[in-house]
Amino acid sequence: MTRTVLVTGASSGLGHRTAQKFLAEGWNVVATLRDPAQWSGEQSDRLLVQTLDIRDEASVAAAMTAATARFGRLDVVINNAGIGLFSVFEATPHTVIEDLFDTNVYGPMRLIRAALPVFEGQGGGRIVNVTSNGATVPLPLQAAYGASKAALTTFSEALAYELASRNVQVKVVEPGFMATTNFFAATYKRFETIPAPEAYLPFVQKQLAAFDVQPPAGYFATEDEVAATVLTAATDHSDLFRFRIGGDTLDGARARQQSDAEYDAWRNTRFMTD
Ligand SMILES: NC(=O)c1ccc[n+]([C@@H]2O[C@H](COP(=O)([O-])OP(=O)(O)OC[C@H]3O[C@@H](n4cnc5c(N)ncnc54)[C@H](OP(=O)(O)O)[C@@H]3O)[C@@H](O)[C@H]2O)c1
Repeated sequence: MTRTVLVTGASSGLGHRTAQKFLAEGWNVVATLRDPAQWSGEQSDRLLVQTLDIRDEASVAAAMTAATARFGRLDVVINNAGIGLFSVFEATPHTVIEDLFDTNVYGPMRLIRAALPVFEGQGGGRIVNVTSNGATVPLPLQAAYGASKAALTTFSEALAYELASRNVQVKVVEPGFMATTNFFAATYKRFETIPAPEAYLPFVQKQLAAFDVQPPAGYFATEDEVAATVLTAATDHSDLFRFRIGGDTLDGARARQQSDAEYDAWRNTRFMTD
């Protein structure tokens, strides 16, 4: 039987690559986008391009109905859609943080809530949530973004226990920086709309300078490598919950495995600029 996957945020970056990878592997694919006109991949009998804004419950419900009407079942949902936020917390309007959590945390919760009755009706399913290395190692200027991805990670891990009893597996994919998606440009644009207070400027400038330091080639994972990891998480039969990918993610995970004092020394050397 041909398996069916629904991917959010398939207009660009990781979501686009992931939808294409599952198509190439022979799956039925529901590629969901806020604006379906933005789908730039191939057409196929196994592809449904569907509107979905993860912040809108009616839009999520309509996408779920369209997916099951077209393919009859749904094996995997992939919560990939997400937005970034670099900013000084003190200067960040609460509405901006609400929108961040609405997209990165409540959005995946909405999709999962809509998928569970479908999974229940067919005897099981799988959820893959895309989080971030910022959930393991919180990064400067990303307090709210890291909090949103840590919330998604923690929610996913706890949810996995109750859903295992319903034959639904929950996995997370934790990528590090992916240079070629729209993420950094979109996040930087948002950053420019939230001016840092004068007193923070030396700190902000030092942090921005750190972005310009180039690691060795191949250190960061490409979106293609991360999409391959999403496919692995969607099909894996082991108990592994968290799929880490990228040199920065793996370095952070290793640092976290040290004692608290060693981890603090590691992160202070990297991120404390004063
Ligand atoms: N790139 C990185 O460095 C990085 C690192 C760690 C984790 N991640 C995570 O990886 C995931 C994919 O990001 P990416 O790097 O591929 O960035 P991207 O190219 O900017 O893709 C983000 C996708 O999310 C979609 N999206 C945003 N808000 C949405 C909403 N309300 N409803 C539905 N879709 C929405 C965007 O659609 P529109 O075109 O409509 O805006 C776009 O398709 C995100 O969850 C991100 O947090 C990225």
